[in-house]
Amino acid sequence: MTQITVELGKQSYPILVRTGALELAATHLKKFVNNQRLFVLTDENVGSHLLQKLQNSFSGSDVTLVVKSLPAGETSKSWRQLETVTDWLLAQGIERSDTLVAFGGGVIGDLTGFTAAIAKRGCGFVQIPTSLLAQVDSSVGGKTAINSSAGKNLIGSFHQPQFVLIDPLVLNSLPDRELRAGYAEVVKYGLINDASFFAWCETNGDKVLSRDPDAVSKAIIHSVGAKALIVAEDEKELSGRRALLNLGHTFGHALEAETGFSEKLVHGEAVAAGMALAFGYSVRRGHCDAADAERIVTHLKSVGLPYNLATSSVAASGQRLVEHMMHDKKMSSGTLPFLLANGIGQTFLANDVDLDDVAAFLDASA
Ligand code: GLY
Repeated sequence: MTQITVELGKQSYPILVRTGALELAATHLKKFVNNQRLFVLTDENVGSHLLQKLQNSFSGSDVTLVVKSLPAGETSKSWRQLETVTDWLLAQGIERSDTLVAFGGGVIGDLTGFTAAIAKRGCGFVQIPTSLLAQVDSSVGGKTAINSSAGKNLIGSFHQPQFVLIDPLVLNSLPDRELRAGYAEVVKYGLINDASFFAWCETNGDKVLSRDPDAVSKAIIHSVGAKALIVAEDEKELSGRRALLNLGHTFGHALEAETGFSEKLVHGEAVAAGMALAFGYSVRRGHCDAADAERIVTHLKSVGLPYNLATSSVAASGQRLVEHMMHDKKMSSGTLPFLLANGIGQTFLANDVDLDDVAAFLDASA
């Protein structure tokens, strides 16, 4: 059992990583119970697999889990579902001192967090993430959001959870593709600022993907610890420190937009290819040795993640991909900040990137 604290003054909160934690959820969540109930938001996929385990942990207690199960998938991060969920909570008589439990992947975490931020002008929430991506990234740090017709995650707030409960065992029922996509975010922590962790990934990535319990736990604990430090330094992405967590996301966003944010290329896969492209582009600009970019491609390839346009099923021109980037929410005064690197573990934010040059790079790398 490992506990990591996100140090945010009065808003500090623990992240508990514990094998088998789901079976002990009632004990871990006891202090969040109000009026003998907890409101749980989940999705139909998670619900069918894991909800029973969560409910079992409360059997024999006087706590009622009031559960709302939403359709699985990105479409649930919508105004419509936000309205459905808030109306449902109000009909249940939710109070400000109630706690919502986000029991699912990134979609459920983001929607639940935003609901908690606005219901009764803000109530508490805890995260029980059930995908690797949510465990190592989205459940930590308080970014909450829904999508709008103008783009992904454009409506939301920073609203920190009060507690994050991570059970590596729940990943045993996660489809291989989702596990692999989440693993891209694990690799990200090595590439951002920890070359020795990237070396660990090179040696142990296949063990994580074959669900070796020690390797999975180490990957989660390391990633959560790295994210907790960055969030503590720059909670609201103001100093540029937290922006490092977006490595690969600008290139990745263009790939996702081109594939229609569809199952053709899921978020973690787009981030994998985006990180390889960010390093490739860093080589083109003379920041980084080609050998470092090659190591990344070799690793992503070895674990079956995309690492360029072709392996992302994208055949678009560089210009078209750059047009997608221009809709990125990070665009500011006509400039798009890019995360580039001087080498593995040495990422930095560049504000002087010429988008025509990015388009030429993408055409050359296709
Ligand atoms: N996933 C990026 C962040 O939490 O800042």
